[in-house]
Amino acid sequence: MNILLVGDIVGRPGRELVRTGLRALVDHHEIDLVIATAENSAAGFGVTKDIGDTLLEAGVDVMTSGNHIWDKKEVLEYIRAQPRLLRPANYPSGVPGRGSYVAQTRDGRAVGVINAMGRVFMQPLDDPFAVVPREIEAIRHRTRVIIVDFHAEVTSEKTAMAWHLDGRVTAVIGTHTHVQTADERILPNGTAYLTDVGMTGPHDSIIGMEVGPSLARFLSGMPSKFEPATGNPRLHGVIIEADDRTGRATRITRIGYSESELAQLAAQTNTARNASLRA
Ligand SMILES: [Fe+2]
Ligand SMILES: [Fe+2]
Repeated sequence: MNILLVGDIVGRPGRELVRTGLRALVDHHEIDLVIATAENSAAGFGVTKDIGDTLLEAGVDVMTSGNHIWDKKEVLEYIRAQPRLLRPANYPSGVPGRGSYVAQTRDGRAVGVINAMGRVFMQPLDDPFAVVPREIEAIRHRTRVIIVDFHAEVTSEKTAMAWHLDGRVTAVIGTHTHVQTADERILPNGTAYLTDVGMTGPHDSIIGMEVGPSLARFLSGMPSKFEPATGNPRLHGVIIEADDRTGRATRITRIGYSESELAQLAAQTNTARNASLRA
């Protein structure tokens, strides 16, 4: 089976790419399940019920998150009601929401998704190296295919997690830096790994935000208000091909599409669909 993980959706430009292009991507790459990081989907900060529901309608099966999950207050209610929105599993017990979910593909095959957050240069949450194996054990009897979204800042911590879980999960995919890395590989025991999947949003920006205020903060050391940028929207993601009997990854492919490339793909897919309807 093929699982697509869409990199962090930033603001309206990111949401528009998903709304207009995701179905075509799913058709073109024969995707069985879509995971997307949604922590920046509401104007760059957090996620709301309306926006989350729109992403689910657009074809996202499971939403993951990270340090920005609590930015919008109303998410507290939404995350309690919507099991397909995850927050990092290593928040202390009692925190609303869940860190894992077992999704179903359209043809009824189960895929586990686990979300965790790193601790280096981030909030000191519970130990993700101890929490993720517990989450794996909790869902292992329901599926062999398990994707871990490890939301972390530092390459070494992400790589360490991949080796820690090699042979226990299908893939460890890094999120949070908003910049796609080029180190995709399959580790010796069958776990696919990519340090960071990148961002779905405006790339003429500083990790999704307007250049001016973000640059000003570095130049002056003073706080400034960030707004999502708009220029050069691109969808970045990764496709993991998995053997559903063993749970091992058989291929990992990074993807990156500009707005016009996605529109072209959508047009091609519509043409092919219309042709097959006529045939
Ligand atoms: Fe993010
Ligand atoms: Fe983040």
